[in-house]
Amino acid sequence: MKILVFTEKPFAQAAVKAIENVVNAAGQELELVEKGTKADLLQAVKNANALIVRSDIVDAEVIENAPELKVIVRAGAGYDNIDLEAATKHGICVMNTPGQNSNAVAELVFGMVVMMCRNQYNGTSGSELKGKSLGIYAFGQVGRNVARIAKGFDMKLEALDTFVPDAVIEEAGVKPLHNVDELFAQNDFVSLHIPATPATKGSIGYDLVMKMPKNGVLINTARKEIIDEEGLIKALEERPDLRYVSDIKPSKADEFEHKFAARVFFTPKKMGAQTAEANFNAGVAAAEQAIAYLKDGWNKFQVNK
Ligand code: 3PG
Repeated sequence: MKILVFTEKPFAQAAVKAIENVVNAAGQELELVEKGTKADLLQAVKNANALIVRSDIVDAEVIENAPELKVIVRAGAGYDNIDLEAATKHGICVMNTPGQNSNAVAELVFGMVVMMCRNQYNGTSGSELKGKSLGIYAFGQVGRNVARIAKGFDMKLEALDTFVPDAVIEEAGVKPLHNVDELFAQNDFVSLHIPATPATKGSIGYDLVMKMPKNGVLINTARKEIIDEEGLIKALEERPDLRYVSDIKPSKADEFEHKFAARVFFTPKKMGAQTAEANFNAGVAAAEQAIAYLKDGWNKFQVNK
């Protein structure tokens, strides 16, 4: 059986080696395509039985080009890059690897926040996190790691997640909220961890951001698509105290940077999960899951059931 690992943004070398070991130990064949184009993917997927990707786009064309494909594993959390309908139509199981890269993303939240609060280390006087309030939008694996780390900074914590029982949020020492307006109005920092779905795309914009307290900082380590960029630009124009950090460039990055300079910061590529540890954990989990599915239909993390 051929297991194709296709990553535009390559895994760390140690992770690739570990994936190789897992595949070899199972007696399967590994094909690794790094920094490939869509044409490369279309070619390589033709005789693949399993496909492992990161944020790489797996659309209907890719799926239709893969008659032998049984399973796609997204080495990571968000699977908005995979056409689930097309996969289901072709009887292909799609899984993610929940939790494997969430600490890395959560650590980057604080990396970016501290940098923004210290005025991007330009030598001027900044501000501290201690005693400030943080609103966590979605209390999944990343949100929970953000809460854990925020406690070390002595921050006050609130979270909103309609899919998570209040008791789970409370157990983590976080106050559960039930209203997104409150989340934005009550917190100095708001950290976004919602997935990109038809319901959430463009859902964070002018009205919500304008509710933030003075000197509010919006942090996006989720997806750029959840932001209404025009609305956010308007809010930043009207509120010179607000700041925005994002782990990925917005579509209108040039306009943001031109208009708001040091009040915004964007990573050049999505960097949240880009650590040796997260690559290793997510890559190995993906390889093990793909092999377990091919062997006996193991599908614990299937997302297209
Ligand atoms: C995820 O959904 O797991 C993260 O956004 C990381 O994505 P990446 O693997 O493309 O870095």
